[in-house]
Amino acid sequence: MIFAIRGDILYTKKLGVVSENIDSYIICEDGIVKGVYKTIPSKYKNIKVYDYKNKLIIPGLVDTHLHAPQYSFIGMHMDLPLLLWLNKYTFKEETQYKNMAYAKKAYNIFIKDLKKSPTTRFSLFATIHVPATLYLMEELEKTNLVGFVGKVNMDRNSIKSLQETTDKSLKDTLFWIKAQEKLKRIKPIITPRFVPSCSLELLKGLSKIANEYKLPIQSHLSENKSEIELVKSLHKESSCYGSVYDDNGLFGNTTNTIMAHCVWSEDKEINLMKNKKLWVAHCPSSNRNLSSGMAPIRRYLDEGIKVSLATDVAGGSYLSMFRAMEDAITMSKMRECMVDKNLRALNIKEVFYLATKGGGEFFGKVGSFETGYELDAIVLDEKDIPTVHMDKLKLIERFERFVYRPNDKLIAKFVAGKKININ
Ligand code: GUN
Ligand code: FE
Repeated sequence: MIFAIRGDILYTKKLGVVSENIDSYIICEDGIVKGVYKTIPSKYKNIKVYDYKNKLIIPGLVDTHLHAPQYSFIGMHMDLPLLLWLNKYTFKEETQYKNMAYAKKAYNIFIKDLKKSPTTRFSLFATIHVPATLYLMEELEKTNLVGFVGKVNMDRNSIKSLQETTDKSLKDTLFWIKAQEKLKRIKPIITPRFVPSCSLELLKGLSKIANEYKLPIQSHLSENKSEIELVKSLHKESSCYGSVYDDNGLFGNTTNTIMAHCVWSEDKEINLMKNKKLWVAHCPSSNRNLSSGMAPIRRYLDEGIKVSLATDVAGGSYLSMFRAMEDAITMSKMRECMVDKNLRALNIKEVFYLATKGGGEFFGKVGSFETGYELDAIVLDEKDIPTVHMDKLKLIERFERFVYRPNDKLIAKFVAGKKININ
């Protein structure tokens, strides 16, 4: 299938640089971008055109880390730091997903909101429960969004009702991988919750499964100071938090791996992240809400580490990747003025890159309108944010208004070449 999308097209190929294309056409063939043109080339002249003249079109936003079961308490329970928050609220809530009636009700609400959000791709944590995780995946598949979903693994230091034996955790993971094989747009990702929740035997078993089935890996890393102390007390044999994953085969290299937070990574961990080609999922809202800290994102970028952006619902208190971009800028400004003057704050073009091509790379050629990229696009609705001099604004300024003014309204959404129903 071949079609064009017409409008004011903004995208980024490179950190800090944008491409502005007023009244232009994206040509898409079999889900792949052929190019962005000022007029439709003659060989394409009879194709279907989705005409969004004068509307702002950007690549779909990529949320590389969030917890679907926590959507049920989004915007609540922000009075405790990470470990206490997990024990008092989060583990208890996730236990409820053993009950399919509850899981269906909660996941349906989450999916409905995700569908109409600016997010086109995502990497989700579910819970330890296989039936509820399969339900989440099957329902997401019906929306035509694209993303990874992980059955969570945890065999220690949880509450009793949310803890597996090592053996059951691994067996359930294998069963789950087989059970979801028919899905096309929603794919599995190996998901050890974080080191405190996983024995070394479990980590090693998950590494074996990830390699055997060629699956990506997601987890949490160096989010919070008490968490890091706990990991160090549990694992005197490893030289830093990240090396616990690395020593047990879960830190990049052969398998795409994404680690959320990395707020307090020390030099040797940063070197390891770089050498193993790890992705960082930066979660500014969650890092603020759970008093975790301000991640040194500029340093990661300067070191050539791959950085993406994420909401981390429900440590993060919104589903909107526009809000995540605002918070990434704000947190980097706070860090620059309060902590480290050498780490320059992020700017609007840079967070645009992180939320599109930066995170998109975890999914392949995603997050840009360059030739050969999978077509993920959102058409933005500016009617509720009128301004007197709209015709004078650059496209990046029109985009910036979505980051700083709460308005997530979309006119249309395309994911991997398919126009999806956002109602
Ligand atoms: N570390 C382990 N589990 C979680 C979680 O659910 N949320 C956050 N923010 N960090 C975690
Ligand atoms: Fe998280």
